Amino acid sequence: MTMEFDREYQAALALVERELEGCFQGDGTYRELLDAMRYSLLAGGKRVRPVLALKFCEALCGEMEPALDYACGVEMLHTYSLIHDDLPCMDDDELRRGKPTCHVKYSEWLALLAGDALQAAAFERLTLSSRTTPQANAKACEVLAVAAGRHNMCAGQYLDIVEEGNALDVDRLTQIHLHKTSALLGAACLLGLTASPVEYTEQQWVAALDYAKELGLAFQIRDDMLDVESTAEELGKPIGSDADNGKTTFATLYGLDKCRELVAEHTARAGQSVSGAFERPEFLCALADFLAKRKN
Ligand code: IPE
Ligand code: IPE
Ligand code: MG
Ligand code: MG
Ligand code: MG
Repeated sequence: MTMEFDREYQAALALVERELEGCFQGDGTYRELLDAMRYSLLAGGKRVRPVLALKFCEALCGEMEPALDYACGVEMLHTYSLIHDDLPCMDDDELRRGKPTCHVKYSEWLALLAGDALQAAAFERLTLSSRTTPQANAKACEVLAVAAGRHNMCAGQYLDIVEEGNALDVDRLTQIHLHKTSALLGAACLLGLTASPVEYTEQQWVAALDYAKELGLAFQIRDDMLDVESTAEELGKPIGSDADNGKTTFATLYGLDKCRELVAEHTARAGQSVSGAFERPEFLCALADFLAKRKN
């Protein structure tokens, strides 16, 4: 990791963390619901999706700030998906971002509601952004809704659960990963383009989607590897969860060495996707490389 990449990542992270810290404050009879939302949102994830939104915006217009509300929105939506993913009726996990999962800390019903409310808050944040035009905000809502919904992330989560216990082939597993992981990463990239006051071209839109597709495959294969080879302390979530749930993963299909090769291949393709389309693709390429080697 170069010092320049590290500096840029930290700068984007600092912007997002400061905004998120201000969310869901205030007193009221339902304070505990807001606490549960903040508990999961502020538990310190990698913030990959908001960083993507900010940096795709910057790649077009030279500024990150126009995408700041969209960045917060996509992180809220992602956090909702993690809260629900961890529920006993789904992956049934008890550790997330190094802390007890939302339903363990609070209760199942409150975790369900905290997730629901985070999802609603994501769209509220996009709709009301004053950093962007009403037209851009409407487009942003469409982008996020399509990626999160029945044809993408929810479909991926459906297939992931319904196929538990089944031996899947690589095509089926790839389809699941594209839906459950690449789609939301893609939305993050497109939200960045949508926020930019400098208009994106059709070629840039397609390049961002290609980048996210490859990044998502690399990201989810790496996630499957870490579930086998990491430790709960380092990962901040339980290891062996996929095996316990009888999931076919890239690790069970190919073994860890082949997975490492596949992650490298998809990462290289991600870099190629943006290299011709943006004037300054360096950070986006470096981010893909960083995520390929991530330990948590
Ligand atoms: C976890 O996402 C869920 C997957 C899609 C693999 P992240 O690995 O981005 O989790 P956080 O946000 O850093 O906790
Ligand atoms: C979760 O995939 C993807 C979504 C939440 C949409 P995983 O179930 O593999 O994620 P982890 O390993 O629990 O973070
Ligand atoms: Mg899951
Ligand atoms: Mg899970
Ligand atoms: Mg996983």
